[in-house]
Amino acid sequence: MPPFRLAHQGKTCSDSPRSHARLRAVALVFLLSAALSSCSGIQSALDPAGPEAEDVATLFYVMLVGGAAIWVGVVGTLFYATRVRREPHSERTAGWVILLCGAVGPVFILGALLTYAVWLLPNMRPWTAPGEEGGLRQIEVTGEQFWWRVRYLDASGGVLLETANEIIMPVGERVLFSLNAPDVIHSFWIPSLGGKMDVIPGRINRIALEASKAGVYRGVCAEFCGASHALMAFTVEVLEAEAFDAWLQQRLAADGSSGADGLGLFLRHGCGACHTIAGTQADGKIGPNLTALGARGSIAAGTLPNTQDNIARFIRSPGEIKPGVHMPSFAMLPEGDVETIAAYLKGLE
Ligand code: CUA
Repeated sequence: MPPFRLAHQGKTCSDSPRSHARLRAVALVFLLSAALSSCSGIQSALDPAGPEAEDVATLFYVMLVGGAAIWVGVVGTLFYATRVRREPHSERTAGWVILLCGAVGPVFILGALLTYAVWLLPNMRPWTAPGEEGGLRQIEVTGEQFWWRVRYLDASGGVLLETANEIIMPVGERVLFSLNAPDVIHSFWIPSLGGKMDVIPGRINRIALEASKAGVYRGVCAEFCGASHALMAFTVEVLEAEAFDAWLQQRLAADGSSGADGLGLFLRHGCGACHTIAGTQADGKIGPNLTALGARGSIAAGTLPNTQDNIARFIRSPGEIKPGVHMPSFAMLPEGDVETIAAYLKGLE
């Protein structure tokens, strides 16, 4: 783009300084609007939808102000030394500058920020007070390669229902997430609701989150876990209490046995060995539970919009959509069978 190149050539440029200023202003507005628009939305830690996320956002702004103060101090000193008083300073002054700006200042500022962060920590505690656990709704989340297994537990720790890549939770209720993984480390993060928590094989990490606003949010894996790390997102839908109860009842009663043709093909081609669909013979545990798949906002862990075409595409060649996925390609199935299975899955609600 010639105008930008000319802008760097200074006095030899034939454009007027005013047009440069206008260009710079346009660029600034563009950058600022891009930066600010990323502060809101369904996946922003700066647009909190719960108390834990509000603490994280507050900590960010405090750190931002602290960082800005340090930056202003450093740049101001640089400006003073290069533009205001350019002659050499005495050894004594230099010593004081090093002592105050190199030791006392950083210790004071970093100490204050650390104290504040530690003071905030109890509010972001992963666990509620002892004894309170029994009272919290528990959702077990397993980080798989590369999707999320989501199990709703009952009061005694039994599995009430299982789903995948979606978390439906009630508004205004603290929910306890128990996190685990069978093979590699992931990190469970719903920016709108709180901080992240590592998902580590061989141990159960817990984090309690509350959503104070109903809505749809997006969660992600925040730890590099393999080829499709960037393709393992999930949807968090926060519902009013009654709507949540209705959803729970609907899901507990879900029955995928209608749509006989599609289900027949699904079972005949062995899909049920890896996937479960409630109310049918499909009870595989390796892959995502597909009960009520049609009601999900996306497929393949937030990778594709949930359409019949995309479901068919994924069945044919999962590895092309998600590198490293464990599901094999089913491109050898007759085209009509794939379409029928996809239509059946899309119809599950
Ligand atoms: Cu799972 Cu990154």
